[in-house]
Order: sequence, then structure tokens, then C-alpha cells
Amino acid sequence: MQRISLGKSDLSSSRLVYGCMRIAGDNSPEDRERGKAALRAALEAGYNQFDHADIYGGGACETLFGEVLRESPGLREDLILTGKCGIRESGQPEAGDPKRYDFSYQYIVDSVEASLARLGTEYFDLLLLHRPDFLFGAAEVATAFETLYENGRVRHFGVSNFRTSQVKLLQSQLSRPLLVNQVEINLHNIGALTDGTLDQCQRRKITPQAWCPLGAVAYPAWGNTFTVEDEQRIEVELQRQSECYEAEAWQVALAWLLRHPAGIQPIIGSTTPSRIRAATHALSLNYRREDWYRLLEARNGQPVA
Ligand SMILES: NC(=O)c1ccc[n+]([C@@H]2O[C@H](COP(=O)([O-])OP(=O)(O)OC[C@H]3O[C@@H](n4cnc5c(N)ncnc54)[C@H](OP(=O)(O)O)[C@@H]3O)[C@@H](O)[C@H]2O)c1
Repeated sequence: MQRISLGKSDLSSSRLVYGCMRIAGDNSPEDRERGKAALRAALEAGYNQFDHADIYGGGACETLFGEVLRESPGLREDLILTGKCGIRESGQPEAGDPKRYDFSYQYIVDSVEASLARLGTEYFDLLLLHRPDFLFGAAEVATAFETLYENGRVRHFGVSNFRTSQVKLLQSQLSRPLLVNQVEINLHNIGALTDGTLDQCQRRKITPQAWCPLGAVAYPAWGNTFTVEDEQRIEVELQRQSECYEAEAWQVALAWLLRHPAGIQPIIGSTTPSRIRAATHALSLNYRREDWYRLLEARNGQPVA
């Protein structure tokens, strides 16, 4: 699989990231086996970056991944393990506590320790703050990052779902560059293309990662506002391009993301081995600017101005 350098670091990541949000399923033995088969398929297909969060499966996804690491001694060093923290579910730790974001020093440090224990590893290659905390103090976050770095628990840092002003604020307090901003990008949600996120990524050499890259193609995106007519227009154009590129519609949708010069890394969240493997076909499409705009036009329902 094609590799890229993550942000301003020398971390060499597979262009596609494997997303571990769904690997534990409902945590039944069958779903856990399915999750392990998905991970094996991803490894065989050359994915070397695996995206986690403390909240995925309530911790079950990290625990399952930890089992795979224990079953394959030596694997850990070949991987880029990405973790996320900062979202706290309701009822934790006290009954009645609301769902909230928490970028306090203690919560960040404790959360990372708990994730590493579930994964059975000493360190994260990359830690992202999952969603911006309304009560976000950049200096406090910087101190937490410094502690985690000094203790050897996290080697690099990044963010997720951050606005450009928040990236700027946090970076102003850090001695090391933020490597990644992980945001939703798909045919429905193109906010990152229009709100300055991808411009900032290019300017600061931050790698943009796209979560739910197939939203609006394989399933409705979060907050989907497309009408039936919108969906049909997109489907017709995707179908036309599928034939032209000898690819499936969803692979064309990935190529549409990959075509952007900011170097978007789609995070593949399928748990189906054949899809995990087939996603790499999107990397080989010589995707044309004209087709990129045709798909944008189909999405928007009108040509650009
Ligand atoms: N930072 C954040 O806030 C945030 C938020 C959400 C997700 N994430 C990360 O992003 C990763 C990817 O997100 P995602 O899992 O939503 O991404 P996705 O790859 O867009 O979607 C995966 C889902 O689509 C289904 N799917 C994939 N290809 C399909 C096809 N051709 N036809 C029908 N269904 C298809 C999969 O089903 P099967 O499993 O049955 O193949 C799976 O349910 C997550 O794993 C997580 O790591 C981050």
C-alpha cells in the first residue's frame, strides 16, 4: 500500500487508515471473531495505521485489539497506533453525570493510561483530542501532552473535529507540531473543503484524516440533508464514473477524497475483509479533475459559479 509521512513527522503511514470503531460489534464471540478477521485482512492489505478511541465499544475495541497484539508478538513495532480521548459518556463516573467533553489535565492523562492498559502496549504513536471541549484551556492541554510525551506514553499529537481557530490556539502552546486533524469528510459533508480546514492543513502540513468517508454513499451521512433527487443524481454520476474507471461506486467516492491536494487519509471502517482489501483499489484510479467536478456538481445540484 502507498505510504505517506504523517504531518511534519517521519512516521510512515499507509495512505488508508483502518478505523477500529466497529471491530467489537456487540462484543459477542461471533462479532469479536469477525472483528479479528477484519484486522487480519487490514494487516495483510498493508494498512499500518489503526485508529482507536477510548469510547469505541465502551473500551471493548481497544481490548480486542490488545488480544490481537498479544497473539502476534512483534506486530506492535510495525504499527502506528492512534488513540483518541476527551469524550466522557453520561453516567460516568457518577450516575447522573452528563455526556461531556473533558480536556482537563487529569482526565487526558488517566484516559491514555486506561487505553494503553486495554491495548496492552506501552505507548501511542499518535494521540488525538476527540472533539473540542467547550471548556478547553490550551495551556492545560499542553501540560498534559508534555507529561505524556516525557513519560513515553505518547510520541506525537493531533486533534479531531477541531476548527481552524482551535488548531491555531492549541498549536500556539505546543513545542511539537500537531500532525493530524481528523474530521468528517464525505460527499454529504464537505465542510472541510469550504471552512478553511483543508487550507490550514496544507499551510501547516497537517494531515487531514476523513472519518465516515463513505457517508452518503454506503449509508446516509450523519445529519444527512440530501433529498431523494439529490441521492439519485449522485448515484447516476457515480455509476457513470464506476464504468469509466472500472471501479465500484464507493471506490470512486474514496478516489474523490484522495484527489484533494491536502493529502486526505480516508479512514476505512468496514468490518468486511473483501471491502477492506478492495478499498486499496481507489488508490490506483487516475482520477481526473473533470470527474471530481462532475461529482461535485451532482452533489450540489448545480454547476460551480
Ligand atoms: N473522530 C471522530 O469523531 C470519528 C467519528 C466517527 C468515526 N471515526 C473513525 O472513522 C472510522 C471510519 O468511520 P466509519 O466506520 O463510519 O466509516 P465508513 O468506512 O465510511 O463506514 C463503514 C460502514 O459502512 C459500511 N460499508 C462500507 N462499505 C460499504 C459498501 N460498499 N456497501 C455497504 N456498506 C458499506 C460498513 O459495513 P461492513 O462493516 O458490514 O462492511 C460499515 O458499517 C471509524 O472506524 C473510526 O475509527 C472517527
